[in-house]
Amino acid sequence: MFSMKKRIAILGSTGSIGTQSLEVIEKNNDKFEVEVLTANNNVNLLIQQAKKFQPNAVVIANPEKYKVVTEALKDEPVKVYAGSEALNQIVQMETVDLVLTAMVGYSGLIPTYHAVKAGKNIALANKETLVVAGEIITGLAKKKQCDIIPVDSEHSAIFQCLVGEYMNPVEKIILTCSGGPFRGKTLEDLKSVTVRNALNHPNWNMGAKITIDSATLMNKGFEMIEAHWLFGLPSSKIDVIVHPQSIIHSVVQFEDGSMKAQMGLPDMRLPIQYAMGFPYRIRNEFPRFNFMDFPTLDFEPPNTKIFRNLALSYEALDRGGNVPCILNAANEVVVEAFLKEKIGFLEMPETIEKVMDKVSFLEKPGLEDLIQTNDETRTVAKLLTKNKN
Ligand SMILES: NC(=O)c1ccc[n+]([C@@H]2O[C@H](COP(=O)([O-])OP(=O)(O)OC[C@H]3O[C@@H](n4cnc5c(N)ncnc54)[C@H](OP(=O)(O)O)[C@@H]3O)[C@@H](O)[C@H]2O)c1
Repeated sequence: MFSMKKRIAILGSTGSIGTQSLEVIEKNNDKFEVEVLTANNNVNLLIQQAKKFQPNAVVIANPEKYKVVTEALKDEPVKVYAGSEALNQIVQMETVDLVLTAMVGYSGLIPTYHAVKAGKNIALANKETLVVAGEIITGLAKKKQCDIIPVDSEHSAIFQCLVGEYMNPVEKIILTCSGGPFRGKTLEDLKSVTVRNALNHPNWNMGAKITIDSATLMNKGFEMIEAHWLFGLPSSKIDVIVHPQSIIHSVVQFEDGSMKAQMGLPDMRLPIQYAMGFPYRIRNEFPRFNFMDFPTLDFEPPNTKIFRNLALSYEALDRGGNVPCILNAANEVVVEAFLKEKIGFLEMPETIEKVMDKVSFLEKPGLEDLIQTNDETRTVAKLLTKNKN
């Protein structure tokens, strides 16, 4: 089934998705090999990974860390590059078969754009790429005939449900949502929640930014926008249902009313492995789901009056143009401010809503327009959060 090893570039190899991807590769080293690893600041882990996996090249995005990495890898047959431009170039290397985008936030957009432009297949974890520039990226991928295979567990679930259903129109999709650590809380409760409370996700162990996004339901809003671009459905055909056990990863409903769901224990290694191995499933030893451990599965509607970010995401997608880009940039600024304890939990959606009305609207933005929108939004959001770093 795998006649040749797939050579993989992992953008963001030191993060939660990046390290789990390396775990999958290590267990399947007859099928995959690491071609490129990249990080931003975490030199120790990057060096350790490079020594172990012997990639062709590594990139450290922060140029100040270049010397440390070159020094540590001077006896290894590994090329070392630094800076964001190096990320854009490395993804185009002829020897890369698949680019796994596991950088966090807006930083993933431009390297992913260059990878798609070079015709590389993408295993997409970095959902913000599609939130900011979904039309441009999916349009380019179509033109270059490259696959964008989702890594996000919900989108992987939908993708898996759609395999073999090419001829059958979808009536709607239902994204499941754990509800995060504050499910069932009132606005009054949320006034006093701390960063520590928000980082304590009940089901998933993830990077800090996505964990906060899960607590505010912005993550689900982003996933709704991501689903719009991946599966070509309007927002009216993308529902969200809270399912606290995170066993059903998402659902597709077809025109005959039949529903297909993909289930399993919450473990990101499975969607990562599926995206890497597609179209093949690979045997593994991950823990198996047992119905008797979960005799009851619960469902409830999301409360968009309390978790405003989900409503703001639907609004952003429906307004279109550069509004999802504004939503994303404002969110990155407020999440950073919240993590630094400069603003409270409820100030996050309040600020995003204000910023969405302040930044100029562009109906058909190109990539340069989106870069400018991102910069402008950050300036406005930082002023509002008084977070001038
Ligand atoms: N974690 C999950 O379970 C999960 C599930 C679904 C989707 N996702 C998505 O996957 C992406 C990664 O999430 P994560 O939780 O793995 O994040 P994370 O743990 O914070 O890791 C982020 C990675 O990106 C690198 N990075 C950060 N800023 C960068 C920059 N400016 N330039 C270059 N590299 C940069 C980091 O390098 P350093 O370590 O050196 O800082 C790290 O390798 C996000 O878009 C998230 O929404 C994550």
